[in-house]
Amino acid sequence: MNSIASQNPLRTFFMALIFFSLCGLSHSEAAPLGNAPTGKAGSTSYLQAKWDPIHFKPTIDQAKDEDCLACHKEVLEHSVRTASPAGVKAADTLAWYQTLDTYQGEQDSFHRRHLVTGYAKQVMDLKCTTCHQGNDPREETLGSSADGPTAAVQRKQVDPMICAQCHGKHNTQVMGLPPGDWRETGAAFQNNCLLCHAAIRTSRHQVNFLKADAIETAGKENPDVCFGCHGGRAWYRVNYPYPRHPWPGSGPQTPDWAKDRPTASEARFLTGMKDGKAADPVKTGKP
Ligand code: HEC
Ligand code: HEC
Ligand code: HEC
Ligand code: HEC
Ligand code: HEC
Repeated sequence: MNSIASQNPLRTFFMALIFFSLCGLSHSEAAPLGNAPTGKAGSTSYLQAKWDPIHFKPTIDQAKDEDCLACHKEVLEHSVRTASPAGVKAADTLAWYQTLDTYQGEQDSFHRRHLVTGYAKQVMDLKCTTCHQGNDPREETLGSSADGPTAAVQRKQVDPMICAQCHGKHNTQVMGLPPGDWRETGAAFQNNCLLCHAAIRTSRHQVNFLKADAIETAGKENPDVCFGCHGGRAWYRVNYPYPRHPWPGSGPQTPDWAKDRPTASEARFLTGMKDGKAADPVKTGKP
């Protein structure tokens, strides 16, 4: 047949296309990003930007959101589809996590829901670096070389344990609550976490990515506030092993299940906190 003959010009065309796009690629790699904003280190090319020290320890620990957004402002500009590829309109559907009373407005992107939308700003103060602890394009698989990172999480940009703090299961067992979903069992407790938590584990949320006072205020008005971060949007089937801070009245005994628990939040979440333990200079490294 004439298929070979008709393929040849096509092939030549594709070879040319690949050749020219490769030229284009190396050209854009060498050339500055035009008037695109640059990061702290002043990276001007794509490759330089990708390997900018800001993606690595220790520089990333000093990075402010503005520094990251200078190059990545698109993460706050992405928007979700108004309809699924099959034609189901987003406005006509509700995902299970959208049924909490605290969910406001139309469906929005992941980054926006954690950083800029109303409820996020009301109760949280997440930064890029709360979740992103570095991005090493060389090592997305841990342990693949002798000096590769061991603290990284396999093929993940973010350690999922960060997420589990607010998206884990409601730990009914340690609370002595009946097993099962709080949506069903909660009625026996007036759907009110504060029935117990006005007095139990009251030293809570003193970390730099939460607004502790705003959470208590909101929690008094709407029980979905507390449940939301402690079981109501559980993407994970695990209970997050929270640090167990002593609280007024906690007494000297530690229950068996809490023997291995830390008694203070992770040090990097205390930086910049003003009161209580958070101001401990040993923890924050600041006077
Ligand atoms: C100088 C510009 C610049 C700055 C500043 C910068 N980045 Fe990047 N970042 C890049 C480039 C370029 C890439 C590579 C993108 C690619 O290859 O898709 C990248 C990749 C990433 C990736 C991986 C994306 C992927 O799809 O694999 C993450 C996550 C990331 N950066 C987060 C951050 C965070 C967090 C900060 C602030 C601490 C930051 N970046 C600061 C330019 C920058
Ligand atoms: C609540 C945690 C969280 C916060 C806060 C956060 N990110 Fe991300 N980010 C993620 C996760 C999870 C992914 C997807 C990672 C993956 O695919 O492995 C991601 C992906 C990205 C990517 C890859 C491109 C994309 O859109 O998927 C970039 C770039 C990025 N984040 C930058 C930022 C910047 C800049 C900030 C601060 C303005 C930020 N992130 C704040 C969790 C977070
Ligand atoms: C400090 C608490 C906190 C952390 C940490 C956190 N989330 Fe969330 N997440 C929330 C809250 C609160 C909402 C609900 C926002 C709302 O109702 O507006 C939410 C909403 C979501 C949604 C629904 C977004 C939408 O479009 O409606 C997803 C998906 C999600 N989180 C995944 C994650 C993942 C994955 C991580 C880890 C990378 C993470 N979250 C880390 C508190 C957190
Ligand atoms: C019947 C009383 C009671 C109710 C109702 C209750 N809790 Fe608890 N909760 C407890 C007790 C008891 C503990 C464990 C105290 C300790 O550390 O010794 C606890 C522990 C916790 C912990 C820490 C778990 C850990 O592993 O360290 C969280 C988070 C929590 N409760 C959130 C909630 C939320 C949110 C609600 C409502 C949805 C709620 N609780 C309802 C009694 C209760
Ligand atoms: C925006 C998400 C969010 C909301 C809303 C929220 N929590 Fe938490 N809660 C967390 C995170 C994250 C931690 C762990 C912080 C840390 O590392 O100290 C935590 C820790 C706790 C703990 C463990 C305390 C300890 O010993 O450190 C208790 C108890 C608790 N929350 C109860 C509640 C109650 C009650 C409410 C409602 C008034 C509530 N939470 C609302 C995210 C949330």
